[in-house]
Amino acid sequence: MINTFDRLGSQAFSRMALLRLLVFCTLAACCVARSPPAPPLPPLPPALLLDPLSCNDSQVLAVAGFALQNINRDQKDGYMLSLSRVHDAWEHYQEDMGSLFYLTLDVLETGCHVLSKKAQKDCGPRTLHESVYGQCKAMFHINRPRRVLYLLAYNCTLRPVSQRKIQSMCPDCPFPVDLSAPSVLEAATESLAKFNRENPSKQYSLVKVTRATTQWVVGPAYSVDFLIKESPCTESQASCSLQSSDSAPVGFCHGSMVQGSVQVPALIRKKSVSVTCEFFESQAQVPGDDNTAATQESKKLPTADEAPQKNTAPTNSPSKTAPRGSVQHLPDLDVEKPEDSKEKSPVEAFPVQLDLTTNPQGDTLDVSFLYLGPEEKKLVVLPFPGTERRSTECPGPAEGTNPLILPP
Ligand SMILES: *[C@@H]1O[C@H](CO)[C@@H](O)[C@H](O)[C@H]1NC(C)=O
Ligand SMILES: *[C@@H]1O[C@H](CO)[C@@H](O)[C@H](O)[C@H]1NC(C)=O
Repeated sequence: MINTFDRLGSQAFSRMALLRLLVFCTLAACCVARSPPAPPLPPLPPALLLDPLSCNDSQVLAVAGFALQNINRDQKDGYMLSLSRVHDAWEHYQEDMGSLFYLTLDVLETGCHVLSKKAQKDCGPRTLHESVYGQCKAMFHINRPRRVLYLLAYNCTLRPVSQRKIQSMCPDCPFPVDLSAPSVLEAATESLAKFNRENPSKQYSLVKVTRATTQWVVGPAYSVDFLIKESPCTESQASCSLQSSDSAPVGFCHGSMVQGSVQVPALIRKKSVSVTCEFFESQAQVPGDDNTAATQESKKLPTADEAPQKNTAPTNSPSKTAPRGSVQHLPDLDVEKPEDSKEKSPVEAFPVQLDLTTNPQGDTLDVSFLYLGPEEKKLVVLPFPGTERRSTECPGPAEGTNPLILPP
């Protein structure tokens, strides 16, 4: 009985396999025999082209590391992102072109500003109550023989950790505060003034506050991150209003201001201010300085900047100059979707759109600018694989990451 069942099962399986092979051969024959006039091609299911990958595979983690490194480099604003886990990964291997990876990455904001260009290993994730987390989708092209690593496109969506959950776990924890609050600006200017007083050789002015939290200590305390630029004014010119508007941020500061107690006047009434600043390295990058991926494999691969690219040659290729993606910030999920609004259809917590094509059969993209040779190089891009299909062994492990800051 069992034997018969087994045989039936395997027969059914082989018939399925045969059928699939047959369909594939028909499609393949159809593609090869593309003499004009071409018959309309039946849509080729992307499933046949995309290979699901394990999200815990060392190669996949290496590719994810490169993708994130490139996403960080592409930013002009905000904080560097670190990987908490690979959520989903697909590979589209293309003859003579290498591979195009479709990656969905769960990420966390670090404390490093993107302009610091710090190495990933020097940028740890923030403490839980200050976390900002989310998801990135990235399309990453690798051609090992030609030493090409290229981030084709990306998009990320981030949200702060649920303050409702944090406050219930830790009522005394600092919480985010509106960057335009007067006390936030006061904390930034007071702490920068302190920095300027202690380092009178050069003066700096505020570019903008990038993050602010508040907490009750003996009075309200504010903690702020802000960017600074060189100021043409010296301390002696107190009323100097010269502002070189075009000067770029040169450093990143962390300041805090504790206001004296209001309720207990016996306690210190004056403010206490502290500040630390770090200065960005000049734009010249040390190649290989920021190899992100921690695996052995990644060390064998060149970084995208080392790969032979026509980087030096001026090129008008739109895909080279256009921004390849963006990082979108959304509010706290609890603010946007209060608990009681359950009757609504579930909103996607981290909507990330990344489609270079809507054609189910894919489109070709000219990536000749990545290659040194004169030949035309084209990649096939497909619509980004959706969530209804997921590779096995995904999402990968997220060691030590609190579930509060992992996208569902
Ligand atoms: C992930 O891979 C590492 C090393 O390759 C292994 O030790 C670990 O058990 C794997 N984790 C999971 C969840 O598969
Ligand atoms: C990236 O996201 C933005 C905004 O969410 C969207 O307008 C854009 O089309 C996306 N890019 C791609 C390539 O899908």
